[in-house]
Amino acid sequence: MGAVRVEKLVGFAWVTVDRPEALNALSRGLVSELLEAFAWLRDDRAVRAVLLTGAGEKAFIAGADIAELAKETPETARENSLRGHAMCRAIEECGKPVVAAVNGFALGGGCEVALACHIRIASENALFGLPEVGLGIIPGYGGTQRLPRIVGRGLAAELIVTGRRIAADEALRIGLVSRVVRAETPEQRVADLRAAAESIAREVLKTGPLAVRAALDAMHRGLEGTLRAGCDLEADAFGMIYETKDLREGLAAFLEKRKPTFTEE
Ligand code: COA
Repeated sequence: MGAVRVEKLVGFAWVTVDRPEALNALSRGLVSELLEAFAWLRDDRAVRAVLLTGAGEKAFIAGADIAELAKETPETARENSLRGHAMCRAIEECGKPVVAAVNGFALGGGCEVALACHIRIASENALFGLPEVGLGIIPGYGGTQRLPRIVGRGLAAELIVTGRRIAADEALRIGLVSRVVRAETPEQRVADLRAAAESIAREVLKTGPLAVRAALDAMHRGLEGTLRAGCDLEADAFGMIYETKDLREGLAAFLEKRKPTFTEE
């Protein structure tokens, strides 16, 4: 049976990594399942936002599966890294906002999956880290590239070369997460984190889907190049969006003092 659960609600979907015996660690099969789930969600027009979490109250994803890592050869290790990259790209390029609802350990590959999400929110017990060098390996699912782009080069270097774990409040302070959810009990924590993620999804539901996709795409592709090239991309996207009915509808609705009805056309 698969370890990735996809639950469709009205307008958005939850993706839950559910492998409790290993704190949701990413086995090879699980990486493929996540990749497939996001490829499928990308093409599902009824899904406007995706919320990603780990089952239970202890772990988001406790890393790549260390038992499997121990068996890799140089060739299979490289392939493993490339599969992880493909999975992270499937998340990053799925065309709708993906929110990581980090409910506990987000270590190694789990932290890297969270880094590939567009938005990260955390419960107060969340712990982030790239502990790979302590195992004699290095981050292989994009961590050496995405972490410095999110928290800056110096801090990323410190976290990567020491493997230091950081708690939710520090994650908030350094901009690794945008919100921390606090609650009295572990059950309440899970429920409140879920509610906080869903409130972001509901905000997205009020927006124009084509505009959201174009903005995410401009941001994502722009960050890969120079500021000038990124601004050119933005101008192209800004022009292109004027070809859509949704743009006319959004502007007209404001002027007519009503809510817009977007049709993704
Ligand atoms: N890969 C494979 N199995 C893992 C795992 C991983 N990344 N993380 C946890 N598990 C397994 C443990 O081996 C254990 O299995 P067991 O019950 O069969 O012995 C089970 O999950 C529970 O973990 P445990 O270590 O007993 O829980 P804990 O609360 O004492 O510690 C962690 C939790 C996350 C601190 C600890 O499991 C850990 O350090 N995991 C590895 C994290 C890591 O280095 N990830 C990056 C890998 S590149």
